[in-house]
Amino acid sequence: MKIAVTSASGQLGSAITRQLIEEIGEAHVIGIARTPKKAEHLGVEIRKGDYNNRGEFEAALKGVDKVLLVSGMDDPQKRIGQHRNVIGAAKSNGVKKIVYTSIIGDENQTAFQPIVKSNRQTEEDLRNSGLEWAIGRNGIYIEPDLEYLDHYVAAGEISNCAGDGKCAYTSRNELAQAYTQMLLGDEHNGQTYNLAGEPITQAELARLINQVYGTKLVYRPVSVAAYEQDRKAELGEFMGTIIAGIYEGILNGANDVPSDYEKAAGRPHLSPLELIENFKLG
Ligand SMILES: NC(=O)c1ccc[n+]([C@@H]2O[C@H](COP(=O)([O-])OP(=O)(O)OC[C@H]3O[C@@H](n4cnc5c(N)ncnc54)[C@H](OP(=O)(O)O)[C@@H]3O)[C@@H](O)[C@H]2O)c1
Repeated sequence: MKIAVTSASGQLGSAITRQLIEEIGEAHVIGIARTPKKAEHLGVEIRKGDYNNRGEFEAALKGVDKVLLVSGMDDPQKRIGQHRNVIGAAKSNGVKKIVYTSIIGDENQTAFQPIVKSNRQTEEDLRNSGLEWAIGRNGIYIEPDLEYLDHYVAAGEISNCAGDGKCAYTSRNELAQAYTQMLLGDEHNGQTYNLAGEPITQAELARLINQVYGTKLVYRPVSVAAYEQDRKAELGEFMGTIIAGIYEGILNGANDVPSDYEKAAGRPHLSPLELIENFKLG
């Protein structure tokens, strides 16, 4: 059996590749990367695959039984066609199953909605592909928040527009556990899972970070408009708008969802405290 992981050079793709190697051995795992050099450290066969290039995926998926398709990073409208390149090449190569990393989030409003909608379109494309499929909708990664900790400490606070909204965070390593089981087990075929932990507010996030890091952060809510202006000033128009849209989605309750993680991974999700402790341990 050969299982291929796309975007194997990225943080989620490499975490899933490493977990798969642990479960089934390196001879059964193939990494596909737009920039193969960046994935060579994984110690498995690496093939070239840019989502924009159907021909590369036609070659990369030869002899592959199952594919883990990591959601792309491009403009939402471009992503749909990019993912179709992978699904199309999988069909013509006789691949049996695709597992797709989608996202939890607001489908109807907020500036993040175009990204969520493009993910939903790929979900639909996969369900209509005629292949076996399984879909994970990822919670927000906790890592970027913790990588931003120095900024929070300098400000003495976490400030955003999420208000009292709850967010079910996860981590890339937790996701890697779930996706490995979803690839290996037929019982996951035809399932769409929310992959995330226990939902918490931003005030709870600040308290947990304080507990682990000994910081004294408080949480200060601001309006959506003010937060969007602030994020655009720091991150630019595109990224600033997306980040503000994510937190507006949290405010609206879009990330306060029941989790299917245990069904997918075969064990409970780590608690928010454990996620933060694990990040600190490195
Ligand atoms: N749930 C969340 O909180 C959250 C947060 C951020 C992103 N995401 C989504 O999750 C995905 C994985 O996240 P991550 O943390 O692994 O991101 P990451 O570490 O930044 O990795 C992004 C990966 O996408 C690859 N890539 C970009 N454009 C590509 C293309 N045209 N064809 C093939 N590969 C391409 C990159 O390849 P190169 O090495 O060649 O650049 C890299 O391997 C993201 O792409 C995004 O859709 C989710």
